[in-house]
Amino acid sequence: MRAVKGLLQAAPSLREGLIEAVGVGGLRTLTTDLKASLAEKIPAEQERLKKLKKEHGSKELGSCTVEAAIGGMRGIPAMLWETSLLDAEEGIRFRGHSIPELQEKLPKAKEGGEPIPEGLLWLLMTGEVPSSEQAASVTEMLRQRSKVPDHVYRVLAAQHPNTHPMTQLATAVLSLQVDSKFAAAYRSGMHKSKYWDPVFEDSMDLIAKLPTIAAAIYRNTYKGGDLVEASSSLDWGANLAHMMGFTDDGCLEMMRLYQTIHADHEGGNVSAHATHLVGSALSDPYLSYAAGMTGLAGPLHGLANQEVLRWLTDVRQQVGDDVTKEQMREFVWATLKSGKVVPGFGHAVLRKTDPRYTCQAVFARRHMPDYPLYRLTAMLYDVVPDILKETGKVKNPYPNVDAHSGVLLQYYGITEESFYTVLFGVSRALGVLSQGVWSRALGLPIERPKSLTMAAIEQRVAQA
Ligand SMILES: CC(C)(COP(=O)(O)OP(=O)(O)OC[C@H]1O[C@@H](n2cnc3c(N)ncnc32)[C@H](O)[C@@H]1OP(=O)(O)O)[C@@H](O)C(=O)NCCC(=O)NCCS
Repeated sequence: MRAVKGLLQAAPSLREGLIEAVGVGGLRTLTTDLKASLAEKIPAEQERLKKLKKEHGSKELGSCTVEAAIGGMRGIPAMLWETSLLDAEEGIRFRGHSIPELQEKLPKAKEGGEPIPEGLLWLLMTGEVPSSEQAASVTEMLRQRSKVPDHVYRVLAAQHPNTHPMTQLATAVLSLQVDSKFAAAYRSGMHKSKYWDPVFEDSMDLIAKLPTIAAAIYRNTYKGGDLVEASSSLDWGANLAHMMGFTDDGCLEMMRLYQTIHADHEGGNVSAHATHLVGSALSDPYLSYAAGMTGLAGPLHGLANQEVLRWLTDVRQQVGDDVTKEQMREFVWATLKSGKVVPGFGHAVLRKTDPRYTCQAVFARRHMPDYPLYRLTAMLYDVVPDILKETGKVKNPYPNVDAHSGVLLQYYGITEESFYTVLFGVSRALGVLSQGVWSRALGLPIERPKSLTMAAIEQRVAQA
């Protein structure tokens, strides 16, 4: 009773019926309006940041060595990112929740199935695990914003036929920018305290349209341009598979999981950081997300899922499906000796197997235990880490998210690996755009780290 009384004192909105208690000590807003729920949280977070800056602004979070400065800024804690946090040993947590926890807690399309990404979007935006009604209201809100303007289809049709799907995605997103509500509001002199509102609107408009755009790229590039209408009875993630032309129930579940787990991986990875950096110049969500996507298109980042499949196809062509561990070892060594990386293994921050890999492996074991490509992938898990450890330089020899995603897609007939990074990119919008809204709500400034010349570094170390 005392605990409930304390809760009521702490949370006036609970007394007013705007929030409900969930679990032990948890609170959840009752509104099914995502923007209203977000708006309610912003003032307290603004205060929290102000206090942090005022009381602790001069304290050190870490230092920067010469190695870090010339080594891709590894490990320098120099960015605020609210939607997720990566632990090197444990993997990603979205707003404090691990992937297995979210598979339990987030609303699902079917009993015992995978979470729907709309629930994750609510969580990323508000920090609260949504109810089924709240997730369903996001599905409906996105459905209402999903129509893609005709000119975007014309832009896609005008591309060179060999244009990579990721280039098509970035181009299509840029062509949507003409409708940016933030750009229009900025031009008309909006007060900066209100920026988050049109950034939220742009972000929702863009997320809503991405499945239709991605599916159009897929159908244009590989299926002769015959487009499939969205289904009014499907959720956002499942509709993406449906519009690509895939209706198998397992495929829809796989797409929900895929779109959930690729959404966010804290702020320092290339796609998130690029989106954040460009957004910090007050470039609108279309411009900043497009920048993120051109970063995701790099083979050391998102394109690795395409590279994994190509590499596995090479293995199968050269050795066949009945490959032994010894043959596999030889193949891995041959890859390394030819100066290439083993795609799907290693990570800049993680030092253990990626939980996004693990949950896909669990899905595969459940839905496709005898699929040869799954068995090959499972064998890689036994073979590759020891070899990478033997090189003596790879900091994380274990598989990452990209080592498994292609196998699931292949199983359901999505065989065109050059499209895989687009699916990653659609999901990534949920994380980077949610953070983009918070960046404007918190009034984060333009990003401008200091760079040094080699001579300047030499001078500083000589003085130290
Ligand atoms: C992800 C990745 C870019 C991280 O890079 P990083 O932070 O520099 O990784 P490390 O600090 O462990 O790199 C140290 C060395 O090991 C090498 N290395 C790391 N992962 C490797 C891999 N999977 N295969 C072969 N070599 C690898 C690096 O290329 C580097 O070699 P160098 O000193 O000769 O330049 C790297 O692991 C990689 O290229 N993996 C394969 C691509 C991939 O799967 N990307 C998707 C990531 S989610």
